[in-house]
Amino acid sequence: MQATRDGFEMPRHVAIIMDGNGRWAAARGLPRVEGHRRGVEALRKTVRAASDLGIAVLTIFSFSSENWSRPQSEIRDLLALLRRFIRNDLADLHKSNVRVRIIGERDDLSGDIRSLLEEAEDLTRGNDGLVLVVAFNYGARQEIARAARRLAIEVAAGRLSAEAITPELLARQLDLPDLPDPDVIIRTSGEQRLSNFLLWQAAYSELVFVPINWPDFDRATLESAIAEYRRRERRFGGLIAQTGS
Ligand code: FPP
Repeated sequence: MQATRDGFEMPRHVAIIMDGNGRWAAARGLPRVEGHRRGVEALRKTVRAASDLGIAVLTIFSFSSENWSRPQSEIRDLLALLRRFIRNDLADLHKSNVRVRIIGERDDLSGDIRSLLEEAEDLTRGNDGLVLVVAFNYGARQEIARAARRLAIEVAAGRLSAEAITPELLARQLDLPDLPDPDVIIRTSGEQRLSNFLLWQAAYSELVFVPINWPDFDRATLESAIAEYRRRERRFGGLIAQTGS
């Protein structure tokens, strides 16, 4: 955590499972895509708020490895929204000194999506404001398996001994080894599970579940989720509460 101007402690890394777009739309008799569209607006507000609050890293679960099992039409809508988000918002994010980083499996994405993701990373590489980590085609088990595969290749080649493999060594093979683990993971829509999101990095994260759907999330909801996180004592398996920094 880091202290802010008002003396409160901010989590350094906040991760969000943006859930409930479909339910938000259904409750209003609207098509699911309208929920996703409003979800993008909530995302814009949240990025701005996180930046203003002095949070260092914001990770968002935007498309999971398992989302490919949704109907083709919904996948098309989600990919179109991602394209539009990068095309319309990238310049603003850059102007706001946001650095975009992507986690997830890129190899099986179409060329145009891969290029857009790379463009977002390349343009913002030199920024030192909020780090926005977009989890796209992401699954935590897949990420851990990729890391294990890399280590196995090293062992098979005789460059690493199996006995040398520790949690720290494996963690260095994960998608963003240089970032701190999330202090808090927020999930909207009232569901209370991680759904294959950041399973390794979540070992000591506080989990905050908020009962509203993602399109209704805004600065006030972010602040109250952070307030809930602050009320928790973090012990990291020990006896004395720690600050997480
Ligand atoms: C969950 O709602 C949300 C998603 C599957 C994707 C989140 C996507 C966005 C906020 C918009 C796209 C943004 C980018 C940057 C691509 P759900 O459909 O699972 O809702 P439900 O559980 O109510 O059906």
